[in-house]
Amino acid sequence: MLSFCGQRLPLGFSSSISIQAVDYQSQASLATAFKGQDAIIEAFNPAAAEYQKKVVDAAIDAGVQQLITPDFSSDTFNEYAEGLIIFEPKIKAQKHLEMRAREGKLAWTAIVVGAFYDWAGIRKRAFWVDGRQCSITIFGSGDQKTSISSIDRVGAATVMVLKNTEEFKNRPAYFADWSVSTNELVEILKSLRPTIKWNVNRVPVATLFAEAKQMWDEDTVKGVKERLSTKAYQYLGTYGVFEEQNRYGGDFSGKVEKGWEKDVGELREGFHNLLEEFET
Ligand SMILES: NC(=O)c1ccc[n+]([C@@H]2O[C@H](COP(=O)([O-])OP(=O)(O)OC[C@H]3O[C@@H](n4cnc5c(N)ncnc54)[C@H](OP(=O)(O)O)[C@@H]3O)[C@@H](O)[C@H]2O)c1
Repeated sequence: MLSFCGQRLPLGFSSSISIQAVDYQSQASLATAFKGQDAIIEAFNPAAAEYQKKVVDAAIDAGVQQLITPDFSSDTFNEYAEGLIIFEPKIKAQKHLEMRAREGKLAWTAIVVGAFYDWAGIRKRAFWVDGRQCSITIFGSGDQKTSISSIDRVGAATVMVLKNTEEFKNRPAYFADWSVSTNELVEILKSLRPTIKWNVNRVPVATLFAEAKQMWDEDTVKGVKERLSTKAYQYLGTYGVFEEQNRYGGDFSGKVEKGWEKDVGELREGFHNLLEEFET
């Protein structure tokens, strides 16, 4: 379902797509929009986890069979995930979903893909590689492997789950194109563009959690409600991905669906194409 709070259709959506405005606070409004749908894919902003209970209950009211949870990111099913604080609303919402799913009326799948390395990581310059400034950020030692996906493969994973609902029923499904360390990425980038001088920024991670927790607590005292754009949120998320011992499952290569990971040659080609985007 797509909704734009009564606003006009953004360019790029086909006219064959039905768009409905809903009130996220209203279970009845959501149920009306869900009526007649087989499946729901929740591509919510993580800040919307607070609405998940209503979405789940409305989906059951409407007779929806399958729900893809609002994940598409880090492994919130990792046994230590709650300790990162930022995932608390999502984990709470997931518990409600699993409780309702036990009634047998609705099945769910969580699609865990790691960072979108092309769209968020490089095009939006949100993570490590800044193709415009020719800089790379290394968090901690840089030897920690991180599971990453391209945005089109996230779409392909979603289609695969929807086509094989029994196989993926009521569990997290892990899809990553590669699990690669930042030091390996640096070597790939240097070999792809040997004449470019890449600036390497080093950010220590050992103290990141303590700093982030302090900022989080200060925000709590200040009454900050919108956490997503805070420094504390970003620091905690980054720490979770790059913690040196893989405590929070930034590298989930051991859980990736069989046959899904690509080889390093394809990773090189993917990065080559992304770098070309900056050069044209
Ligand atoms: N793995 C990665 O690197 C990565 C990076 C970015 C995003 N993601 C994933 O992609 C999905 C979408 O995330 P996004 O950040 O890209 O979302 P977004 O574009 O900021 O928001 C998507 C929609 O969420 C709805 N929404 C409902 N309540 C909201 C609230 N309280 N705050 C903000 N939005 C709210 C809005 O729908 P309406 O317009 O109908 O109100 C909005 O259009 C999430 O599952 C996220 O985990 C992953």
